[in-house]
Amino acid sequence: MIEDATLIIFGATGNLAQVKLFPALYRLEAAELLPPGLRILCNGRSEYDQETWRERVAAAIDRHGRAPREPQVFARFAARMHYLRGDLADTTTYQALRAEVNNGRHSANLAFYLALPPHAYGGVIEQLDACGLLAESDGRWRRVVIEKPFGSDLESAQNLQRSIARHLREHQIYRIDHYMGKAMVQNILVSRFANLLLEPLWNRNYIEQVQITRTETLGVGRRAGFYEQTGALRDMLQSHLMQLMALIAMEPPVSMHSEDLRDEKVKALKSVRPIHASAVPAVAFRAQYGPGETDGKPVPGYLEEPGVDPHSVTETYAALKLYVDNWRWRGVPFYLRTGKRMPETLSTIAISFRQPPKQFFRSAHIERPPPNWLIMSMAPEESLRIEITVKEPGITMDTRQISLDAPFRCEHHEKTGAYEGLLLDVLEGDNSLFLRYDEVEWAWRVVDPVLRVWATERDYIATYPAGSWEPAEVNRIFDRPHHHWRNQLDPES
Ligand code: BG6
Repeated sequence: MIEDATLIIFGATGNLAQVKLFPALYRLEAAELLPPGLRILCNGRSEYDQETWRERVAAAIDRHGRAPREPQVFARFAARMHYLRGDLADTTTYQALRAEVNNGRHSANLAFYLALPPHAYGGVIEQLDACGLLAESDGRWRRVVIEKPFGSDLESAQNLQRSIARHLREHQIYRIDHYMGKAMVQNILVSRFANLLLEPLWNRNYIEQVQITRTETLGVGRRAGFYEQTGALRDMLQSHLMQLMALIAMEPPVSMHSEDLRDEKVKALKSVRPIHASAVPAVAFRAQYGPGETDGKPVPGYLEEPGVDPHSVTETYAALKLYVDNWRWRGVPFYLRTGKRMPETLSTIAISFRQPPKQFFRSAHIERPPPNWLIMSMAPEESLRIEITVKEPGITMDTRQISLDAPFRCEHHEKTGAYEGLLLDVLEGDNSLFLRYDEVEWAWRVVDPVLRVWATERDYIATYPAGSWEPAEVNRIFDRPHHHWRNQLDPES
């Protein structure tokens, strides 16, 4: 049973809250998973009366929710909500919040969700503490959810951590990475540790390369303010993709308890070979989309997007090669890449195996037969595929590649979003799928040298037309001439 609590959402009028949090909370309401006494306090700078606020949330759920809104469910949901206007730079906002949570209508357990720009986290936490809103006593808990990116580089992450650690203990901090709430990501753990089949092959003796890809057809839209400060490396790679990499690379944990799981992820991140500044061009590549086409329609380049500096060299595409220098993985390249305005929305972990020691069935015209691939995919479909070589039907001994496909989710399985489970975890006090500070710090240690080199290269960035794959210059990061990006799920011909 989840205890009653009050969830306070800062930044409730912002993009994250409207697009992700309210639809997720509404779905939990529809599934009757929210505790009866949960109340939701919404803070924003704009003025709303309670009725108009509910209409705004209803509109967000209609727009971004997965199923049509049911009036009865929404009435229940709306009754939990209360809008509190207030500027976060103003101390009276926190006093008003304290008065509200102490008015007898709220549970003593408080969860604060900081759906705010990263620079605001430190100040808000300090103010909450000054108002006595973070102190845990008499069995009541206080938790704070912090969105990524946690800092903008190693030093700022360390500073942020120092500043929040003055007000919060580690068990109160929920550093969220919504990828950890995705079913497919949790499936990595299950596929690896609930089956014996993969484990013997899961190492440098059998695996030749690992590719982790998240590409999107969307551009930056109206998020230029955030994106100009962030770029693809910080926005996606340092966080989501490195989390995926840690789950693929880590050793089996002692148990699935949060500390055991996170200890193993940290060990994997610590084993990543440090990147020397002089090696950055050989292992990292960045690019920016220019004007092009998406879904057959012309779309502007990044520099023409509203709010973008016309001389910006912010990357909308980043690729990085990493080595995990331990007994299991030494010498196996992990290629990570992410990009906006690419031709396809692809979210995959593609693992290619080594060639058999001897080729008996090589047809004369094929130089190098395709290797076995194992592809875990979240998009365009949620599936696990294994590619193997079989004999071509007919009398000749020709071979072809086929794929054994297993969907993770069938039509009748309901689709759940990443935030639903994570929001429940916060209320339940389960932080296993949230990032511990040392994970964040080690991930910054890995990408920091790249960020520092890129920060000095202010005059040039490679470009790709919107709607196309990355420029061929990226191929310089590949270890072997036959390595190339896996851009499709179907076996390559
Ligand atoms: C967010 C990034 O964290 O993840 C966005 O800030 C990105 O830029 C998004 O579009 C991708 O998430 P998903 O769940 O669509 O893969």
